[in-house]
Amino acid sequence: MELAGWQVSGKIDYDKLIDKFGCQRLDQSLIDRVHRLTGRPPHVFLRRGVFFAHRDFNEILDAYERGDKFYLYTGRGPSSEALHLGHLVPFMFTKYLQDAFKVPLVIQLTDDEKCMWKTLSVEESQRLARENAKDIIACGFDVTRTFIFSDFDYVGGAFYKNMVRVAKCVTYNKVVGIFGFTGEDHIGKVSFPPVQAVPSFPSSFPHLFSGKENLRCLIPCAIDQDPYFRMTRDVAPRIGYHKPALIESSFFPALQGDTGKMSASDPNSAIYVTDTPKEIKDKINRYAFTGGQDTKEKQMLYGANLEVDIPVKYLSFFLDDDAELDYIKQEYGSGRMLTFDVKKQLIEVLTELVERHKRARAAVTDEMVDAFMAVRPLPSMFS
Ligand code: TRP
Repeated sequence: MELAGWQVSGKIDYDKLIDKFGCQRLDQSLIDRVHRLTGRPPHVFLRRGVFFAHRDFNEILDAYERGDKFYLYTGRGPSSEALHLGHLVPFMFTKYLQDAFKVPLVIQLTDDEKCMWKTLSVEESQRLARENAKDIIACGFDVTRTFIFSDFDYVGGAFYKNMVRVAKCVTYNKVVGIFGFTGEDHIGKVSFPPVQAVPSFPSSFPHLFSGKENLRCLIPCAIDQDPYFRMTRDVAPRIGYHKPALIESSFFPALQGDTGKMSASDPNSAIYVTDTPKEIKDKINRYAFTGGQDTKEKQMLYGANLEVDIPVKYLSFFLDDDAELDYIKQEYGSGRMLTFDVKKQLIEVLTELVERHKRARAAVTDEMVDAFMAVRPLPSMFS
């Protein structure tokens, strides 16, 4: 999502962002708590600091410890047919949270948002939402505890009532302050934020949570979504609801280097879940920015700068084995390992990941999409 209030570009100082947004750092003690409460090793995205910030996640854990459950809410703006690896990050993490905590999940497909922000027709946005739903389902979500909805299909009824409750609490000046809208922006944009806000409230889903209006909500998302939820958290107590808690990730870096988000207009800036093994290999070999030296001799003498090295960064997202990653970092950083070998490792890891995703996606039928998107009670919510 593009936010005029906070454009994603250039090198991002995540510490500054935590200060500026006023969220909290996700520290080791919280990660240890997740380990203890779920009885599973924390996800690699927690161990390696991919999810690095939060709001009130500790309160979710306090409540969980007392036996109070919560539900998960995440989403995607369906702006393109093919997802890249960065798009999978929040969904892989949400799938882990769903399995670890055994809680229900709602996934919002903001086809309305993308229709309004991009040059997409209503019909095309809706089509993309369904296509993207298949990629999301391919991440392994449990249909007995997951509700996926498209705004064009679902907005109405209790959901719409909550939108109006929220909208009445937010002045025009306030949204301009948060999102940076200008007088030239159409009014669709100005009126959109309540749509993304209200899935944070259980009463927006009477078919799921009727009688459980007090349930807390935890939102895993990339940190560029924070402005929506700052607004939501500001409004929630005024309309008698809990503030949603958040767990927020940094961005998955572009192949060209750690300067922000990947660009949809440059296919060589990212690995897509539709790329062939040859495309993956060529992109990594040609475009992955490395911190290695440019000759073998120099590499053996000086070693690689791991801080800026994209193959190492990508491996730290997707190579689960801590000991192996440490070994690579040590050998490569000291010059005993060459860039070529690190890239080769990465090509293997990503090819396997992408091929697995393709197989999973190919197995997702239209009936399965319908099942996830059906307005129905969820059979196993908390067990
Ligand atoms: N605005 C998000 C996007 O452009 C989509 C979205 C809607 C979302 N609800 C969310 C993302 C909740 C994370 C959490 O992709």
